[in-house]
Amino acid sequence: MKQSTVSSWDKVWQQNEKIGSYGCSIRRYAATKFKIYLYQKWGVELNNKVKVLEAGCGEGSLIVELVKSFNVQGHALDFSPQAIKRTEELAIENSVNVRCEEANILATPYKDNTFDVIISNGVIEHFTNPKEPTQEMFRILKPGGKLLLMVPNTYSYGVIDRLWQTLKGEWPFGYQKEISPSGLKKIALSSGFAVERVESILRPNFPQDREQMTRIVKHDNFYRKLFPKWGFFSWIVAVK
Ligand SMILES: C[S@@+](CC[C@H](N)C(=O)[O-])C[C@H]1O[C@@H](n2cnc3c(N)ncnc32)[C@H](O)[C@@H]1O
Repeated sequence: MKQSTVSSWDKVWQQNEKIGSYGCSIRRYAATKFKIYLYQKWGVELNNKVKVLEAGCGEGSLIVELVKSFNVQGHALDFSPQAIKRTEELAIENSVNVRCEEANILATPYKDNTFDVIISNGVIEHFTNPKEPTQEMFRILKPGGKLLLMVPNTYSYGVIDRLWQTLKGEWPFGYQKEISPSGLKKIALSSGFAVERVESILRPNFPQDREQMTRIVKHDNFYRKLFPKWGFFSWIVAVK
């Protein structure tokens, strides 16, 4: 099975303050606020009794903010040492406690039925068989626990951008295959989950976005008027 590599992600997370880069912290904080806005809109319970894992946490801004704002019991996992280093530093900077693990999402170090909520954004599209990481998340989620899963959508101008960057040899993220909202639902169902919510979400522009991203947002907004499934993100809320 193909998957993206630790070295490609380490490079991404090293470019933290480069303007327009994926790892730019100002842009990432705005994206985090957007994700939290959606979780609240969808009524996801977040408080000090809720044990949350972010699987594929990147630089950690989401899990750090969830601990800071809602006092959740925060856990973070990523296979990139650079991502884990940034998450640990961000947690210290914000005086919050996040338990971090450097590990592959295919074989996590957690016992069965550990978490109340698992969040995984932008991770399973990096596997030729996205069911494998989804099944591992099923194993470590408590019965009744929620999985909040987001991937880039097949029905987005973002796909053209990936193909173009790949052609130019500039695609930084390794293997990726976008997934439609209904495709994401199928993966969750076949991994044992019930699916509560299926969404196609348009991406807002965030500060420090690269120029091409602004164009993608504009195109996606236009095509959404013609096709309701169109949107940069596929998102589901699933229950074990
Ligand atoms: C697109 S980034 C998403 C980061 C963050 N979740 C977000 O929403 O911005 C994907 C993250 O998943 C991590 N990742 C990719 N494959 C992984 C694997 N097999 N095991 C653990 N982490 C992985 C990468 O290191 C990277 O930090």
